[in-house]
Amino acid sequence: MKTSSSLPKKVKIVEVGPRDGLQNEKEFVPIDVKVELINQLSNAGFPNIEAASFVSPKWIPQMAGSDEVMAAITRRPGTIYSVLTPNLRGYEGALAAKADEIVIFSAASEAFAQKNINCSIAESVERFIPVAKAAKQDGIRIRGSISCSFGCPYQGTVEPAHVAEVVKRMMDLGCDEIDIADTIGVATPGQIQSVFETIFAFAPSHQFSGHFHDTYGQSLANIYAAMEIGVSIFHSSIAGLGGCPYAKGATGNVATEDVLYMLKGLGIETGINFDAAVKIGQYITKATSKNNASRVGRAITAKQLIGDQDA
Ligand code: HMG
Ligand code: MG
Repeated sequence: MKTSSSLPKKVKIVEVGPRDGLQNEKEFVPIDVKVELINQLSNAGFPNIEAASFVSPKWIPQMAGSDEVMAAITRRPGTIYSVLTPNLRGYEGALAAKADEIVIFSAASEAFAQKNINCSIAESVERFIPVAKAAKQDGIRIRGSISCSFGCPYQGTVEPAHVAEVVKRMMDLGCDEIDIADTIGVATPGQIQSVFETIFAFAPSHQFSGHFHDTYGQSLANIYAAMEIGVSIFHSSIAGLGGCPYAKGATGNVATEDVLYMLKGLGIETGINFDAAVKIGQYITKATSKNNASRVGRAITAKQLIGDQDA
């Protein structure tokens, strides 16, 4: 199949299911299930897995034991294992856990920053200065994540210019990659292009990723729109797991299986084994007693069940 000239030939998928997906689960997901999930993902060829989060367990109880998860996984050479670090304490945890990449996270909305990390955007950047400095010294990749870049559950509209300001601060901190996040999944394709175009007026497109929650079902269209203007890194969550503890009603990230199916149809390479990804979605939904939020995952599972009955 021929790839449209305006679309990338290769896309990097950052699998965020083990962190963004599971952080919202009410029932504690056992450490061995988290480890098994991450190992299955790395075996399926996922190049970058957001594996854990060194945040306050009072704020996000599900991420307690991230040190144990990181100690127990089998590292696949070449795979980047990322962890969230809101402050120096989190960074120390990440360093001890031998994370390949840290994620410092703020927001384009003041109201959301207060709810999520209990400080203003400016204060968060101050907090990240020593974290980023230490990561540079230790040779660890730094990713910046900007929540509510397309809308905020507390303040509503977010102007692209405001997103651009936070992007500049993240670039000054030396981020290798920056996620533009639709935390509540409200963006539509035109808005996606206008926010990224505002950013690409001063920054190189290869450093940016789309982190889209799928609340309003727009994520696949948004990924396509973002690819058209040069974005080639996307975050997704196996079986569409997740939500956001500080954005009520927001659903998980776009389901990985759905993204892989679309990219496969477009002839875009990811290096990920699609059939294995579908099986991983089946594994984690069973292990957590959840419905599979991936349309593709559900369709293939239904087909397999019919096949089983016929046999
Ligand atoms: P705070 O209460 O303002 O700060 O929290 P604090 O320094 O007073 O610490 C409070 C307590 O937490 C203390 O314990 C600290 O020791 C402890 P106590 O004395 O009460 O027993 N603490 C820690 N424990 C473990 N690891 C740490 C750590 N730091 C402090 N690193 C803080 C400020 C940033 C810590 C807190 O607000 C926090 O942890 N927030 C995390 C919120 C979070 O993880 N949200 C979800 C991830 S972000 C996300 O999902 C969005 C994203 O997906 C993109 C998108 O979709 O938008 C990335
Ligand atoms: Mg998220």
